[in-house]
Amino acid sequence: MDIYSIRTQIELEVNQLNSREALEAFRNKYLARKGIISQLTGSIPSLAVEERAAFGKEVNLLKSQILAIIAEKEKTLAAEKPSTPAPGGGIDIGMPGIAQEIGRLHPITQTIDEITSIFVQMGFSVVEGPEIETEYNNFTGLNIPLDHPSRDAFDTFYIKSPAKNRLLLRSHTSPVQIRVMKSRRPPLAIIVPGRVYRPDAVDASHLFMFHQIEGFMVDEGIRFSDLKGVLEVFAKAVFGKEIKMRFRPHFFPFTEPSAEVDISCIICQGRQLSDVLTSQGKRCSVCGGKGWLEILGSGMIHPNVFKHVGYDPTKYTGFAFGMGIERIAMLKYGISDIRLFFENDLRFLRQF
Ligand code: DAH
Repeated sequence: MDIYSIRTQIELEVNQLNSREALEAFRNKYLARKGIISQLTGSIPSLAVEERAAFGKEVNLLKSQILAIIAEKEKTLAAEKPSTPAPGGGIDIGMPGIAQEIGRLHPITQTIDEITSIFVQMGFSVVEGPEIETEYNNFTGLNIPLDHPSRDAFDTFYIKSPAKNRLLLRSHTSPVQIRVMKSRRPPLAIIVPGRVYRPDAVDASHLFMFHQIEGFMVDEGIRFSDLKGVLEVFAKAVFGKEIKMRFRPHFFPFTEPSAEVDISCIICQGRQLSDVLTSQGKRCSVCGGKGWLEILGSGMIHPNVFKHVGYDPTKYTGFAFGMGIERIAMLKYGISDIRLFFENDLRFLRQF
């Protein structure tokens, strides 16, 4: 075996080393215990004494060349994709999957769902209306004349539009009363959840967008006591059977008589902890020591509203009410800042 012909052979073999198996066979052929290099080394004692040193050097050089070839080939093979795909088409089918986080409904959506389902159980239907509304439906149809000072209470985002068909972002859900009554005849029992907009400066209790639920019922012989009964069922379902309710006289242009509805404070239970101090010596921070919390506005639908939609006010009567969803959720869950609902902070949202 002469070293020269071994080199020539290696040069031919190098081009075939395209797989790990071929490279391993090459390594065994030359470097294994009984491989060519050890055969060459083993043949040294049989050489003439003066040839041994030079031959030994040649063998060592050849060995280091073979090692260099193997190292080089290993590098190129590692950089290449495996030539035969693994079972599963190159995907490691034994690897654990990436778990999907389970989402949840936003607390405002949960509150809307809870409130609407209470009314649906009492026979109300759910209707939604557009957030871009006509000035007529938002104001005039609801007995809020253009120059009436009560319109200041519903401060409004106007949209550039022709004066005779002025559009705006609805400032309450009440305009859906007009839409429904114009297209249907009594009896009606309707609940309307949705977004409303007012140009308010943002602080802990105000946003330029929030949610309301409007409700109304119209038929022959609907009375104020029907309003009280329906709202009592609602308030006890949301806040607990122990709460008390009170109706305070108020003014809304679209109802007459009108009332604001309070529930007894869910924290101090109406014990007005301003004078009866809590154990920490503080007055109730939720009701401010008043003992009552305002939750909604309501009343008997004004005859002028019926006239605008073409209902006979001597035949039909009805009640209506409207509440802010964020306010209900804040009271129910003890949340002190309305901005928390819309900051998308998962530490807050995951609690619901
Ligand atoms: N639309 C009123 C508001 O946004 C709330 C309201 C009060 C609605 C009395 C009603 C109602 O239907 O009867 O402040």
